[in-house]
Amino acid sequence: MISESKYELIIGDVLETLPWKARERLFDLIIADPPFGIAFNKSSHEYGADDYDLYEDKFTPESYFQFSKAWIESCHEALTENGSLYIISGWTNLQFILNAIDESKFHVLNHAIWYFSWGVYTKRRFVTSHYHILLLVKNKKNYQFYKQKHYDEDVFFWPEYNRGNDPHRIKGHPCQLPIVLLEKLVLTSSSPGDLVGDVFSGSGGTILAARQTGRDVVGFEIREEYKEIIQQKARFGKLVTPSKKQSTLERFLQE
Ligand SMILES: C[S@@+](CC[C@H](N)C(=O)[O-])C[C@H]1O[C@@H](n2cnc3c(N)ncnc32)[C@H](O)[C@@H]1O
Repeated sequence: MISESKYELIIGDVLETLPWKARERLFDLIIADPPFGIAFNKSSHEYGADDYDLYEDKFTPESYFQFSKAWIESCHEALTENGSLYIISGWTNLQFILNAIDESKFHVLNHAIWYFSWGVYTKRRFVTSHYHILLLVKNKKNYQFYKQKHYDEDVFFWPEYNRGNDPHRIKGHPCQLPIVLLEKLVLTSSSPGDLVGDVFSGSGGTILAARQTGRDVVGFEIREEYKEIIQQKARFGKLVTPSKKQSTLERFLQE
């Protein structure tokens, strides 16, 4: 039996809040789904978020690169020696993230794809229906990795999952990752009792995924107005039974 996890949300700029939080305890795993930088890349709307005005996302290409370098470096400092970082990104600004990783001390283990089947319809180019998921580790000889199936490929696809049937989707945040995906990352790269960080919390899905799997978790989010959404989605104040058998991932795998 896995015990109930500790969880916390910190509102503020993660560049400031992550370093002081990490002084208390280092993270075993960090998940980062950064802002897209849509102000300089209008094609980002293809990812299907309904209302981008919901959060500020104003970068120039140079400032997006500098921002990426800063938070990736900050994650490196905040992780234990055998810690891992997942970065989730669309394709439009991936080049800046990859360049920032190149300048970091991380080792890239995987460049995975999450394929989904609800891309926004396009007439004169292919429909965008994937995200990039990068797995980075501090120490390539010593890191946690627990495969979730025997032949665990670097293309993730849950045909049964769509936004319409997502029981955890909540009103008020434009870009929510499925719990099934977040749980897969948490289960693969950490152990019960470990500390997971979500440096761009958004709607709080990673906090829920970590709680459901018995990990301690700290979420970081800059926008105060998402606090209630996060607290609701991640079930703050309520008991979340951390039973691996009932995890969202296992349920989808069984179907
Ligand atoms: C792409 S969304 C994350 C969505 C999340 N993965 C989910 O499933 O709901 C990025 C989030 O990062 C937040 N954010 C942007 N800059 C930030 C910063 N410097 N520190 C902390 N959070 C930030 C935004 O407000 C936004 O909610």
